[in-house]
Amino acid sequence: MARPRVLSGIQPTADSFHLGNYLGAVRQWVTLQETHDAFYCVVDLHAITVPTEPAALRRRSRVAAAQLFAAGLDPERSTVFVQSHVREHTELAWVLICLTGMGEAGRMTQFKDKSAKFGESAASVGLFTYPILQAADILLYQANRVPVGADQKQHLELTRDLGQRFNHRFGDTFTLPEPYILKEVEKITDLQDPTAKMSKSSSSPAGILDVLEQPGPLRKKIMRAVTDTGSEVLFDEENKPGISNLLRIQSALTATPIPDLVARYAGQGYGTFKKDVAEAVVDAFAPIRERTEKLLSDEKELDRLLAIGAERASAVAKQTMAEVRDRIGFLPKH
Ligand code: TRP
Repeated sequence: MARPRVLSGIQPTADSFHLGNYLGAVRQWVTLQETHDAFYCVVDLHAITVPTEPAALRRRSRVAAAQLFAAGLDPERSTVFVQSHVREHTELAWVLICLTGMGEAGRMTQFKDKSAKFGESAASVGLFTYPILQAADILLYQANRVPVGADQKQHLELTRDLGQRFNHRFGDTFTLPEPYILKEVEKITDLQDPTAKMSKSSSSPAGILDVLEQPGPLRKKIMRAVTDTGSEVLFDEENKPGISNLLRIQSALTATPIPDLVARYAGQGYGTFKKDVAEAVVDAFAPIRERTEKLLSDEKELDRLLAIGAERASAVAKQTMAEVRDRIGFLPKH
């Protein structure tokens, strides 16, 4: 039996992944390549659904790809590529847009949240159709599973609905993907506001730990992380959200169960604990940063790896799209 296929995407919208991206997605993607035929894409077409500077897009797409390889995605085993390199994404998106009802698209809650920031009439139509482009990403590769955070569930339901609708109307074409919801235990919150998610769009710099940050600033941010009253290192989300977040971080990075950590720091106060958390973060990030820097300094090599990914992705995408074109009734070009 062939290995099940996974597909996921990450937006090139920041100059570094942060700890939440790393634990919540990237690190788990690396694990999945052991058991799956893995396709991972840097979704630059999604990035332009909000105003984006060309130079920033270029830089961030490279940085995102480099970090994926640096974090352990193996170009031999995983297909890592840039979405815009495979033209079929936009082509299939158009077909799916024509199968989507206005009301159906209008119910997507992430659009409502994101467009609220601009004012609904200033938000682009691209932002409105964002989930349909995402459905195209997934259906194009006949993915069996889609590893995403719980916030993407609604987009996956739309993907399945659209795939099913196409299959029903035009004949069996698409594999219907199952969501593969990534582990929640690894949900990381803002260091300065530990009840809010660590997020590139809403956290302050002091609240975020960036994978590409130098050890000095990383340590400083952790030592200054908001902790809670009291002095004991205990896991208590309700009354000690700050300490609980740091425990989750250390547990995830050192593969130590939280109760073991709580036992280890009994009677030791916050200082020692925070220092150890800082070291765990620095130990995890430093090698990724170094490999990322190396790849970024050798643009040719990075471009070569992305060309390999694009070629493998294109081979699958072309096959799906040829079938779609025929089933829709588009004339073959001779
Ligand atoms: N919308 C996803 C996110 O914000 C990113 C994404 C784009 C994606 N295309 C995808 C995820 C396809 C999974 C599969 O996280």
